Amino acid sequence: MAASTSSQLSRTVAVANQKGGVGKSTSTICLARAAHIAGHRTLVVDLDAQANTTSDLAAEPVPADTVTIADALVGDVELADVVVPAIWERVMLAPAGATLSVALDQLASVVAREMRLRKLIKSVTTEYDLILIDCPPALGLSTVNALTAANDVILVAEPDAWSLDAVADFAQTVADIREDLNPNLGTAGVLLNRYRRTAEATQVIDELVAGLDAHLPGTPVWTDRTVPLWTDISKHVHAGRGLDEGPPRLRQLMERVYSPIVAELVGGSR
Ligand SMILES: Nc1ncnc2c1ncn2[C@@H]1O[C@H](COP(=O)(O)OP(=O)(O)OP(=O)(O)O)[C@@H](O)[C@H]1O
Ligand SMILES: [Mg+2]
Repeated sequence: MAASTSSQLSRTVAVANQKGGVGKSTSTICLARAAHIAGHRTLVVDLDAQANTTSDLAAEPVPADTVTIADALVGDVELADVVVPAIWERVMLAPAGATLSVALDQLASVVAREMRLRKLIKSVTTEYDLILIDCPPALGLSTVNALTAANDVILVAEPDAWSLDAVADFAQTVADIREDLNPNLGTAGVLLNRYRRTAEATQVIDELVAGLDAHLPGTPVWTDRTVPLWTDISKHVHAGRGLDEGPPRLRQLMERVYSPIVAELVGGSR
C-alpha cells in the first residue's frame, strides 16, 4: 500500500492497564504492525522501563547510552532526537531504557509534569498518522502522561477476576484525567487478550461490560475481537514477525482484530 503523506494531525492512542502481563506491549506491537500494513506513518512510544517493546521493535539494538524517551521527558531533548527506526517500514520507535525509572523520579518535581509527553508529541504530530503509547503496569506518572497526551485509550484486559477490580481504579484515573488534564480523552475500547473460552471468562466479560457501563459508559468491550491465548502470538512478536506473516489463524487474527481497530482509530474524526 502507498505510504501515507498527509499533513493531518496524528491520532494518539495510549495502550494501558495497571495490571502487569495482560498484553499491553503485545497489543501495541500488533497494532503497529496493522498500521504498517495499512501504510500509516506510525510512532510507538515505549513508556515502560522494562523496555520490552523497545527490544522487540527496534531495528538495531539500542545501546545503554542512547538518548531515550527518559531524556525527552526530563531534559531538553526533543522527541524527534530520540526516535529510531523500528523493524517495519514507516514505523518509528521512541525507545525506553533503564534510565526511565530515574527520569520519572526527577519528573515528579518538574513544573507541569503530567503534560511533558503531550508537549513532546505536539512537536511531531504532523509527521505521523498514528502514535501508540505502550504504558507500564501502573497508574503512576507515566500512565498519567500517556493519558494526558492521548486522544484515546485502549484498555487491554485479560478476562479473569482480577480485571474486574482493576476496572474501577482505571475508570477513576480516566475520570480524574478528564477533569483536570485532558477533557477530550476518549475510551476507544477494551481489548480482551489471552482469552480462553471458559465459563469463568464468559462471566467475567459479562461483569466487565456491566462495570464499564457503570464507570465508563459508552466504552465498547470488543467481544467480537478477542485475542486467544496462543503461544505462537508471543513467538511471532518476540521474533519481530508480523502475525500476518504467520500461519492462517494468525493472519486471520490480524484481519479480525488489529487491522479493524487501526482503521477505526486513524479513520475516526478528531
Ligand atoms: N494472546 C496471547 N497469547 C499468548 N501469549 C501472549 C498473548 N499476549 C501476550 N502474551 C505473552 O504474555 C506475556 C505478557 O505480555 P505483554 O508483555 O504484552 O504484557 P504487558 O501487559 O505489556 O506486560 P507488562 O505489564 O509487564 O508491561 C509476554 O510474554 C507475551 O508474549
Ligand atoms: Mg509491557
